[in-house]
Amino acid sequence: MKCIRTKIIGCGHYLPEKVLTNDDLSKMVETNDEWISTRTGIRSRHIAKKEELTSDMALKAVNMAMKNAGISAEDLDLVLVATATPDKTTPATACILAGKLGVKVGTPAFDVNAACSGFVYALTMADNMVKLGQIKTAAVVGVENLSKIVDWQDRNTCVLFGDGAGAVIIRASEGEGTAEDTGILATKIYADGSQTENLYATGGVAETQNSGFIKMNGKEVFKFAVGAMCEASHEVLRIAGAKEEDIDWLLPHQANSRIIASVGQKLNVADEKVIITVDHHGNTSAASIPLAISESVANGKIKTGDLVLIPAMGAGFTWGGLLIRF
Ligand code: UT7
Repeated sequence: MKCIRTKIIGCGHYLPEKVLTNDDLSKMVETNDEWISTRTGIRSRHIAKKEELTSDMALKAVNMAMKNAGISAEDLDLVLVATATPDKTTPATACILAGKLGVKVGTPAFDVNAACSGFVYALTMADNMVKLGQIKTAAVVGVENLSKIVDWQDRNTCVLFGDGAGAVIIRASEGEGTAEDTGILATKIYADGSQTENLYATGGVAETQNSGFIKMNGKEVFKFAVGAMCEASHEVLRIAGAKEEDIDWLLPHQANSRIIASVGQKLNVADEKVIITVDHHGNTSAASIPLAISESVANGKIKTGDLVLIPAMGAGFTWGGLLIRF
């Protein structure tokens, strides 16, 4: 039966110029390349300049995505930004970005804060708005300036995170309602608010009037992440009527290569079909998935027709999944 399908018609990304390696970190805290790379798979990450804003990085990623899609800012019906590190407490980074892009006055713009699941949440929102007929074309961005909320003296966390932005341009199109359609085939989002203390920032507007620093109970997050990402993956496959063996690429949130490998094994996806960018991006939270999408399309890994399974998990706890045919 004919149905509305949301297609990705362009993608883009931006990484700040400065690269911080594990060796650089070993001069800042008591750590070493061996510990970081074996425990996390991370070798380097990009760090934004002090004056580089979240909206600046988002703008560069969206400009690349719009060029890739062959559209201009006035074609956009929505600007949606997933971030936990906004420029300001208010207005939303999406509104600041909309101003910088020069979209039509009246175009809705808002932020989604679902931490590392932010892009999965945002694309779910945008897909639903397309299906309701509220929008046709949108920019959906995942962007983080995590270096600004990292405690650079805490070796438990400062080795993990990086900055960057990824964006997709989506557009309403038609499908047959089968798993062979091109576009977003299924979405699913979840949260468990009883686990806020396992991954959080130590500050915020109401509590401390500053943004605080990231704190994490790594072992608890690790255990939860594997189960949650598998649950979300099974659910989107079920919704779409697809099977594990149909997957061309597993593109999970990039937090830790051991978590990614474990999810891949549990989903029976061969190692060569698992996309890894955490080695050179670190954990960029809401930016990790669109960054990996854009990089993998640009380097020719993800091709037209490929079925890509995208699970994520982050602070909240939040988790979810997307199943997209490119
Ligand atoms: O994006 C949102 C989701 N986030 C995640 O998914 C992250 C999930 N968690 C993880 O990736 C892992 O738990 C970590 C990479 C954060 C930590 O790995 P772990 O194998 O769980 O290590 P651990 O926390 O148990 O620490 C083991 C040891 C400790 O020393 P002792 O107590 O055994 O003597 C730490 O103090 O490693 C020590 N350690 C370090 N040593 C060198 C912790 N950080 C470092 C470091 N360098 N940077």
